[in-house]
Amino acid sequence: MTSTHIEISRDGAVQVIRLNRPEKKNAITRAMYQAMTAALDAAEADEGVRVHVFLGQPEFFSSGNDLQDFMAAAMGGDMGQEVLAFLERIATLKKPAVSGVSGLAIGIGTTIHMHCDMTYATPDAQFRTPFVDLALVPEAGSSLLAPAAMGYQRAFALLAAGEAFTGEEAAAAGLIRATVPAEILEAEVMAAAHRLAQKPPVALSIAKALMKGDPGALRERIAEEVRHFAAQLRSDEARAAFMAFMSRKKDG
Ligand code: COA
Repeated sequence: MTSTHIEISRDGAVQVIRLNRPEKKNAITRAMYQAMTAALDAAEADEGVRVHVFLGQPEFFSSGNDLQDFMAAAMGGDMGQEVLAFLERIATLKKPAVSGVSGLAIGIGTTIHMHCDMTYATPDAQFRTPFVDLALVPEAGSSLLAPAAMGYQRAFALLAAGEAFTGEEAAAAGLIRATVPAEILEAEVMAAAHRLAQKPPVALSIAKALMKGDPGALRERIAEEVRHFAAQLRSDEARAAFMAFMSRKKDG
């Protein structure tokens, strides 16, 4: 499975993964997860790559998991192994990951950054995880990572209440590293990535592993979330939420 909606490029020792499906606001399909996992695998194994970078488009980082794929799973299809393989991959990266967010970052468009080491966003970026509104539950280890990063109440507001956090609020909450004006966002992300690429790679990777903590606990949490997520996907309330999204334009 390959995807033209993921662009992979190299800038010196930095590998850039850019989400590029503008017609669907960068909603992430199974093929896109698969393409990202393959690119991350290749970069982790390549001594010439020292840092991973994730970027989106100016108006949106991502609108989250493709809702058509959710709908297919809700109707009895399978979610596919692609998303699980991607979660395992980003949760266990040895090399540092830097990301840049401009505009919308929804669902996994937000939780992906919890696996990055430094995220920069525009001040008016919008981080939002409407899991519960879709009758789903937090994923990607976010139920473990967000309370640790931002404190329980802010994590609850984000992950359970579905409140949006601007880039400014996300930075103040400790969810991301800093905000940067839109016109220099990508330059700042790349500069940060290149600074990391200059550092002794073994020491950097050990420092990251020490701070990330026990990968076993994170894996277990991801698996627990997946069990609930899969069950909820097939619930009547989730089907109703997906149908409402699909038919919203028709209904006017
Ligand atoms: N999955 C599949 N398609 C999506 C999508 C998603 N997550 N998000 C947006 N799209 C599609 C829309 O269906 C639309 O396609 P169409 O033009 O063929 O009808 C296109 O992207 C543009 O989206 P639209 O809703 O018209 O743009 P908007 O600016 O009015 O709203 C969003 C943008 C992102 C706020 C809105 O699309 C949205 O809420 N998307 C769902 C987000 C979501 O719940 N993600 C899952 C989180 S777990």
